[in-house]
Amino acid sequence: MREKILIANWKMNYDFYETTSFIRNLLKVLFDKKINHNKKIIIAPSFPFLHISNQISQGTTLSIASQNIHQKNKGAYTGEVSAEMLKSIGIKKVLLGHSERKIHFFENNCILLKKIKIALKYNFHIIFCVGETITDRKKNIHFSVVKNQLKDTVFHCSLDEMNYFSIAYEPVWAIGTGLTASPKEAQDMHKFIRLLFMEQYGKKVSDKISILYGGSVNDINAKEIFSQEDIDGGLIGNSSLDMNKFLKIIKS
Ligand code: 13P
Repeated sequence: MREKILIANWKMNYDFYETTSFIRNLLKVLFDKKINHNKKIIIAPSFPFLHISNQISQGTTLSIASQNIHQKNKGAYTGEVSAEMLKSIGIKKVLLGHSERKIHFFENNCILLKKIKIALKYNFHIIFCVGETITDRKKNIHFSVVKNQLKDTVFHCSLDEMNYFSIAYEPVWAIGTGLTASPKEAQDMHKFIRLLFMEQYGKKVSDKISILYGGSVNDINAKEIFSQEDIDGGLIGNSSLDMNKFLKIIKS
């Protein structure tokens, strides 16, 4: 049975008060009101609030992920944060490969592979993002683009290391635009990704790996997207910043 996962990627939103009060309220609603759901819920706040968020969530089923790590362990990299530092405050999960990091911070597959390796060294669970641009989709090369993104990064890892991965399919054209992939478009890509894992690592890995969808998921469309056979949850941006919408997505 594959794990169902829902991740709130808050990107560069929410200050200290907003972050802590959202997490406290979420925990209260989830556990006091005993909301029925079958998903592992993860919040990815900004760096300065990871420690307090992790402390607030201790002893609950909510977990906290970092939105990034640097590819080096330590040294003269002004402004960067290492896996070792995050590990020292109890963070065990990280998002890697997000298209916003590729677009705004020029992360390429070579950098991403280094980030993967250092994250694995510190036993992080990695949520690795892949996805095509609108131009790729118009050219009908979206499957090969996603395949190459995996081939140059995740597929350099060993069979055992697959235990540390979830994948998020996030078509770039759907992020923050209000345009989602149709449930069929998303399912087709998820099925394709699962097949790639099957070819690369065998059935045990492809049956087990969680593949999440991200890109304008909201409280209205979540249910249909999550009901697709190969979609094991979501990576949510905007709608995860609104408690009511996020709770509805959790219940989807
Ligand atoms: P939106 O849900 O705002 O489209 O963002 C998706 C995303 O980038 C999550 O990582």
